[in-house]
Amino acid sequence: MLKPRRVGCFRFLCWSLSYLAKTKTSSRAKRGDLGNLNLIKYKALLSAIFLFHINILHAQTHPVNKLLLETYGTHDLAEKPAFQGGYINFGYWKNIPLGKTITTEERIKASQDLYQLVFDHLNIQKEDSIVEVGCGRGNGCVEVAEKYHPVSITGVDIIPQQTNRAKRIHKKFIKRHASSLSFQTGSSSSLPFSDNSQTKIFSIEAAQCFPSMKGFAEEAWRVLQPGGRLVVTAHFATNEAGYQALRELIPTVDQGVDLLIPIEQVRSAFQEVGFKEVSFQSIGEDVFEGLQKWRLNVQDVKWAENYFVSYKKGFLDYYLIVLEK
Ligand SMILES: C[S@@+](CC[C@H](N)C(=O)[O-])C[C@H]1O[C@@H](n2cnc3c(N)ncnc32)[C@H](O)[C@@H]1O
Repeated sequence: MLKPRRVGCFRFLCWSLSYLAKTKTSSRAKRGDLGNLNLIKYKALLSAIFLFHINILHAQTHPVNKLLLETYGTHDLAEKPAFQGGYINFGYWKNIPLGKTITTEERIKASQDLYQLVFDHLNIQKEDSIVEVGCGRGNGCVEVAEKYHPVSITGVDIIPQQTNRAKRIHKKFIKRHASSLSFQTGSSSSLPFSDNSQTKIFSIEAAQCFPSMKGFAEEAWRVLQPGGRLVVTAHFATNEAGYQALRELIPTVDQGVDLLIPIEQVRSAFQEVGFKEVSFQSIGEDVFEGLQKWRLNVQDVKWAENYFVSYKKGFLDYYLIVLEK
């Protein structure tokens, strides 16, 4: 896939050419050269075709599904009662008692515990340069900066509103960790970092949306230093039959928001680019039940009910994957 800088240069070149074509033709027209009218039309048509293709090229490089843009951009999913504290994840409920009414603090703790689970597997050191892909509002990146003080922690998200929100909400922390904490707009298939520049990458409940797992695997491989670690946690179909069932049960699958591809496709995407699998775990048991209880608490079950049903039927699971370059 083309890198944004190359596409940017190409776009600039095309715009310049079409601008030149337009100015040349209009100056001839001003001179009253009516014989050139067909040439003017021809050049205008050429420019239109050119620009049309350039826009397609741009959309292919940064493909953002319209509904994804609405869900995380305009509508800000974090504001739904299913989510609390600015996190947008199902949560890891292992250490939270589920036999009673769940408090808001416990709901937030479940989201934080999912992050902590990933941090523990990342084995974060002060010397690390870390990237989170799909950082949402950026709470997790702030936690990394505050708890571990690495050389750098950069939150990347495909939705510009998310990175803008993260910058606005965490202004105080960005100031406090001025040399290390930052947020950038970018996609899983086009990470804004140079080759071998990072020691750790993680992604929490975002990979289910990635349009190309191979694209993400290749980018993570490119950006990580040899020996670097990648930790991914998200929900996926348990197999092909599960995937077909999910297409019926969860509308956002066919809408291109939560792609929920079969887990074997995820594993092979990483294996094919050369990642070594350090560990691979199903953690659905500690995710879906707690989430379901919380949803019943807050009466926000309509859109989410089918995740629990799908897990119970064996179509869907939540995974924690630890890889090394
Ligand atoms: C469910 S939210 C999780 C946010 C955060 N990790 C958390 O746990 O609170 C998924 C996030 O991934 C982002 N995202 C989706 N597809 C992406 C992609 N291809 N590249 C980068 N970010 C993406 C979305 O914009 C959204 O902010």
